Amino acid sequence: MTHHQINLIRSSWAKVNEMDVVAVGNLFYNKIFEMAPAARQMFKGSIAEQSRKVFSMLNYVISKLDKLEDIISEVEKLAKRHAGYGVKEEHYTVVGNALLWTLEKGLGEYWNEELKQAWTDCYSTLATAMINAAQPTANAA
Ligand code: HEM
Repeated sequence: MTHHQINLIRSSWAKVNEMDVVAVGNLFYNKIFEMAPAARQMFKGSIAEQSRKVFSMLNYVISKLDKLEDIISEVEKLAKRHAGYGVKEEHYTVVGNALLWTLEKGLGEYWNEELKQAWTDCYSTLATAMINAAQPTANAA
């Protein structure tokens, strides 16, 4: 990701952060469950609580986008917890599409191709790191 893209992500995320986390979260999770109904059963807690957790993690990751190497071990732990929830590689595509859709809806006229590309690159960097970290290691028992 370029410096310019990181700035685009941060300024657009700042706008999302001014919105109601539960309302944005509902949009996002409803979209995920519309695209992948079977994923619903993996979520045991309330969607409001889940939305707060994911927003807070995204806040953290976005604050570190210019030095992702500093948080790689936390991202790996997050990925391994996700494998434990039953999350599979293909779910990352669904969640990425739902995220882009939610951002487009939430940001409205502010949304454009450049922003879409920046968020696509951002999500794919994070998702690729998580997918790789979730793979069992060659010498795992
Ligand atoms: C960039 C990608 C993602 C991020 C940043 C993220 C973030 C989080 C966070 C912070 C939590 C709270 C629990 C914890 O920290 O372990 C969580 C839980 C969870 N996430 Fe994700 N997640 C991502 C992708 C996904 C994907 C692709 C799925 C698949 C549908 C998924 C499904 C879940 C489930 C099932 C839980 C546990 C819910 C529960 O216990 O009720 N996540 N996620």
